Amino acid sequence: MKDLKNNEPNIFVIFGSTGDLTYRKLMPALYNLHIQNLLPKDFSVICIGRRDFSNEDYKENVKKSLNKFSGNTFDEGKWEKFSLIFNYLKLDFVNDKTYGSLKNSIDILCDKYKYQENIMYYMAVAPEYFSVIAENLNKNGLVCKEKGIKRIIIEKPFGENLKSARELNEKITEIFTEKEIYRIDHYLGKEMIQNIMAIRFANPILESIWNNRYIDNIQITSNESLGVLTRGRYYEKSGALKDMLQNHMLQLLTLIAMEPPTSLDTESIRDEKVKVLRAIPKVDEEFVKNNIVRAQYLEDKGKTLKAYRDEENVSKDSNVETFVALKCFINNYRWTGVPFYIRTGKRISKKITEVVIEFKNAPFVLYNNENNIQPNLLVIRIHPDERIFLNLNVKKQGNENEIIPIQMDFCQNCHSVVSAEAYEKLMYDAIRGDSTLFTRWDETEFSWKFVEKISDIWSKRDIPLYTYESLSNGPEEMNEFLHRKNMKWWDF
Ligand SMILES: NC(=O)c1ccc[n+]([C@@H]2O[C@H](COP(=O)([O-])OP(=O)(O)OC[C@H]3O[C@@H](n4cnc5c(N)ncnc54)[C@H](OP(=O)(O)O)[C@@H]3O)[C@@H](O)[C@H]2O)c1
Repeated sequence: MKDLKNNEPNIFVIFGSTGDLTYRKLMPALYNLHIQNLLPKDFSVICIGRRDFSNEDYKENVKKSLNKFSGNTFDEGKWEKFSLIFNYLKLDFVNDKTYGSLKNSIDILCDKYKYQENIMYYMAVAPEYFSVIAENLNKNGLVCKEKGIKRIIIEKPFGENLKSARELNEKITEIFTEKEIYRIDHYLGKEMIQNIMAIRFANPILESIWNNRYIDNIQITSNESLGVLTRGRYYEKSGALKDMLQNHMLQLLTLIAMEPPTSLDTESIRDEKVKVLRAIPKVDEEFVKNNIVRAQYLEDKGKTLKAYRDEENVSKDSNVETFVALKCFINNYRWTGVPFYIRTGKRISKKITEVVIEFKNAPFVLYNNENNIQPNLLVIRIHPDERIFLNLNVKKQGNENEIIPIQMDFCQNCHSVVSAEAYEKLMYDAIRGDSTLFTRWDETEFSWKFVEKISDIWSKRDIPLYTYESLSNGPEEMNEFLHRKNMKWWDF
C-alpha cells in the first residue's frame, strides 16, 4: 500500500452538499472511512448548499441519509463523533461575491485547529458548474498552493462531447495542475475492477495465455434492467454511447487489454491504459456500419413498462440509443486478430456487469463437437456479485464418455465480506493523494474522440436505430457481427 499520509487534506469542501450524490454516496463513504479510522486525524468538512439550513438541520439530514444508505454500519455513538466534522455553509456558488464567506470559514477552521490550508474541493454539482466554481475559487484566492495542497475532484460527465470536455479541461488546468485534478469514474472504485489487474498480473498462469494465441474473443457487458427513470433530460443528450461507453466500458477495456505496467505507480498504469486506446483502429463509416449496433427499448411483453419514447422528458420521436453493442480490435502485438465485443443497455432482462474471456478450442477435438463441448471461459463478474469463475470441461460420471462443463468459482461477496462501496475507495484514495483510479486527461480525451466519431457518423449517415422489447436480451441485430458461426454472446 502506498504511504501518502503527509499528503492529506485538512479541509474537505463539498459543493452540492444537499444533492442526491452527497447524501446517497459521499456521506456514507465518509462515515465508513471514519468508523475504520481512515480519515485524516485533523479533518473538517465544509458543506456548501444554497438552502437556509442551520448546522444542526444539515447534520440531521446527513444522519437520516446515513441511516438509509450506510449499509447497516450506522451507530449512534460513532455518529456523535463523526457529526463534529461538519460545517454547513450557505453560499450561491455561481456568485463570485459570496466566496468571501467560504474563505472566512476556512480561516476560522485553520485558526481553531491549527490546520495547514490543505484543501480538497469536491464538485458534486451539475457539470455546467465545474469550471464556474473553479474560476470563482481562483478569483477569491482559494487555490493558493503556497499555503498548502489543493485538489479538485470532478464528477462525471467530464464534458458533453470532445469540444466541451476540452474547454472544461482548459479552464480547470489554468487553475489546477493535472496532478491536482481527480476525474471520477466510480466504476474504477469497484472492488472487482481493481481486482482485474491483480488477477492478470499476480497469476503467471493466466498472463502467459492472455494473448491472441490462446484467446478467441473477449466480451464486456454492462446491462441494467431499469429504464432511464427520471434522467430522461440528461439521457436525451448522452444516450448509451456517451453515458456508458465513453467512460466505464472503455475503462474496462483498457484494464483487460493493457500491457503490464513497469510498476504499480499511478502514471505507469495510466500510460499503459492510454496505449490501449491509441491502438484501437480509426473509426470511419465502414467501421460504424459493420461493427456497431444501436437500439432503443420498446414496451415489455406485458406492456407494463414504458417504451423509451414515452418516458418523462424524452422526445416522442427520439433517436437516442438506449443500447449499443460494438466489435473492435486492438492493433498491437498481443491482441491483433482478437475481437473485443462490448455491449451496454438499459431495460435488458438482467442487470449485470461482467467480462468473459473466451479461449480458443483445442486444434483438434478428441472429444468431438457432437458433445457440444463449450470453450474454456474465464468470467470476471463485477456486478451484482463479485466473482471470478473458470468454465472447464470434465467427463460426466458414468459409463458414457459424456463431457460436461463445470465452473471453478470464487465469489468475493457471497459470504460475510461486504466490499467497500466504490465511492469509499475513491474518497480514501483522493484523500491520500493517490489518483491511480481516476482518469487522466489523455484517457478522457481519447475516449471522447472515439465516441464522438461514432456519434458524428450516426447523425450524418443513414444508420439504422433498431428496437428491442424491454426486459429482453437486447436487439437481435447484435448477433450479426459476431465473427464465427455458432458463436454467441455469453449470458450467465
Ligand atoms: N446522483 C448520483 O448518483 C450521481 C452518480 C454519478 C454522477 N453524478 C454527478 O454528480 C453531480 C451531482 O449530481 P446530483 O445527483 O447530486 O445532483 P443534484 O441532486 O441536482 O444536486 C446538485 C446540488 O447542487 C446544488 N446547487 C445547484 N445550484 C446551486 C447554487 N447556485 N449554489 C449552491 N448550490 C447549488 C443543489 O442545491 P439544492 O439542493 O438547493 O438544489 C444540490 O446540492 C452531477 O454532475 C452528476 O452528473 C451523480
